[in-house]
Amino acid sequence: MPPLPSDDKRWKIVNGTMRRHGYSRAALIETLHTAQSSFGYLDDVTIKFVAKSLRVPLSQAYGVVTFYHHFSLKPAGKHTCTVCTGTACYIKGADKLLAEAEKKLGVKAGQTTPDGQISLMTARCVGACGRAPVVLGDGELVGMVEPAQLLEKLEGWAAS
Ligand code: FES
Repeated sequence: MPPLPSDDKRWKIVNGTMRRHGYSRAALIETLHTAQSSFGYLDDVTIKFVAKSLRVPLSQAYGVVTFYHHFSLKPAGKHTCTVCTGTACYIKGADKLLAEAEKKLGVKAGQTTPDGQISLMTARCVGACGRAPVVLGDGELVGMVEPAQLLEKLEGWAAS
């Protein structure tokens, strides 16, 4: 079995689905469903992890993901706010940033606002610990983020 891609608890949920099915190849679609509902979408890391765990050819896993419209390879929102919740960022208050963002947007991490404007995601260390806490706004890294600064960004996106 490949190791979990990170210590993000959501991998345990995904792994749990596979375990329940004895890591059978037949669990592919259900596992991808679990992953999508945990992360909001399916990225390369997720698809590769699931394919490897279930010993399904990668091409088959991608085939399933692209065939079913339910699956999304990108976060659903027009904008993506990814709060780093790795250790360094956590120590510097990433949990508060995330809580503020969740309150502001009315969604939980991994979800997209009902109007489709913003997906709120988390990541485990994006490799810029010296600038903690770090947020990626549409993939652009911003370091030493203050809650007020984050809320201002989210407000701007909500209106755009
Ligand atoms: S923990 Fe956030 S960048 Fe490393």
